[in-house]
Amino acid sequence: MWGGRFAEGPAAVMREINASIPFDKRMWRQDIAGSRAHVAMLGAQGIVAAADAAAIDAGLGRVAAHYAAHGVAEDLALEDIHMQTEARLADAIGAVAGRLHTARSRNDQVATDFRLWVRDAIDQVLAALAAFDAALLARAEQHAGDVMPGFTHLQSAQPVTLGHHLMAYHEMVARDLSRFRDARARMNACPLGSAALAGTGFPVDRHVTAAALGFDAPTRNSLDAVSDRDFALDYLAAAAQCSLHLSRLAEEFVLWASQPFGFVQLSDQWSTGSSIMPQKRNPDAAELVRGHSGRITGCLVSLMMTMKGLPLAYSKDMQDDKPPVFEAHDLLALSIAAMTGMVESATFRTDRMRALAESGYATATDLADWLVREAGVPFREAHHITGRAVAAAETAGVRLDQLAIDDLTAIDARIDARVYDVLSVDASVASRTSFGGTAPDNVRAAIRAARGDKQ
Ligand code: ARG
Repeated sequence: MWGGRFAEGPAAVMREINASIPFDKRMWRQDIAGSRAHVAMLGAQGIVAAADAAAIDAGLGRVAAHYAAHGVAEDLALEDIHMQTEARLADAIGAVAGRLHTARSRNDQVATDFRLWVRDAIDQVLAALAAFDAALLARAEQHAGDVMPGFTHLQSAQPVTLGHHLMAYHEMVARDLSRFRDARARMNACPLGSAALAGTGFPVDRHVTAAALGFDAPTRNSLDAVSDRDFALDYLAAAAQCSLHLSRLAEEFVLWASQPFGFVQLSDQWSTGSSIMPQKRNPDAAELVRGHSGRITGCLVSLMMTMKGLPLAYSKDMQDDKPPVFEAHDLLALSIAAMTGMVESATFRTDRMRALAESGYATATDLADWLVREAGVPFREAHHITGRAVAAAETAGVRLDQLAIDDLTAIDARIDARVYDVLSVDASVASRTSFGGTAPDNVRAAIRAARGDKQ
């Protein structure tokens, strides 16, 4: 394609290091779409004769059909998907194929193709996250009133409901959705027509190609347009953050599925066995989601390092932009699908959660709050009194609400029998009615709000 001034062909290793076809063939649909929009505009503007433009368009259709049926050949001599498609087009329609590359460069072409690809990727992630969110809401609704221990420092802290816990992940997903939508809106400008770096002298209509490809507008600066990969970094940053959320939930499933916790039983479909220990039900998918988040974050760092320090405009380093984006996307898609499946099918052991919520003195704060509210005790003093009650319960080997009233009044005379109303875990969660709190009614209201139901 560029051999005019060269007497010799490239060395084998040069060919190999230069080629991106092994990975960028994945953008063939976007490459065909970009070329069709470009040639239609060339024809309409009279830059290419209408008959030639029509022949090129038909030829691109045939190339696309060939790719769809047979895949894209990894011909390193043809370097990348753009040269591959042009060569296949020439096979299909002859020399007129050479008019397609008028008024463009592979620099604006690849920037356009890659934006189209990332935009499609975002749309897939948005759909997958919506399904994941629906699964979270359904399980949260089912368990809106089921008590479990809430943790800080992974120590039993205060009772919460399982529904409230799952709705915390809904909040993370809602932010992820907004980050991906935001990235999509920001990236939706079309580089095509920026040509190699300076724009073109041909009378192109960049607004027409932008609109034909579903972009809001053409990009405003040709140098920036061919050398900007912020859209890919935005995608990776959103993907990395999303994967952190998935990893945290995955970690909870790993912990919860372990025998000491026993909070969840993963369905057969989402567990694996051990080849030597027949009793095992391993949460491999959750562990891999946890692991994949590290790789996805690595992809973000990889592209950041590629871009740092590159002078304007295009440099070949930028060809390395695609593998981390493709890798991150595949890992993220798998991770979202796996967590959706696990959330949908897991059996939550609510009896076990309740038992542990009741055994961990998780209502100690409720006793302290009661002393403040009903006996006018300053909170710091109430905290101290409650600490002594916990110690007494611990010594006696009973729950707080199993201490006799005499034991409690011996600790502080201001305690009376009404205190038992707040010492059960159900009373505790029901009392947490502050906006955003864990009371079952709040959780149900949050689920309705998340679904957009009228309150
Ligand atoms: N394969 C190249 C890439 O992915 C296409 C752009 C090549 N441009 C160039 N001036 N060599 O970045």
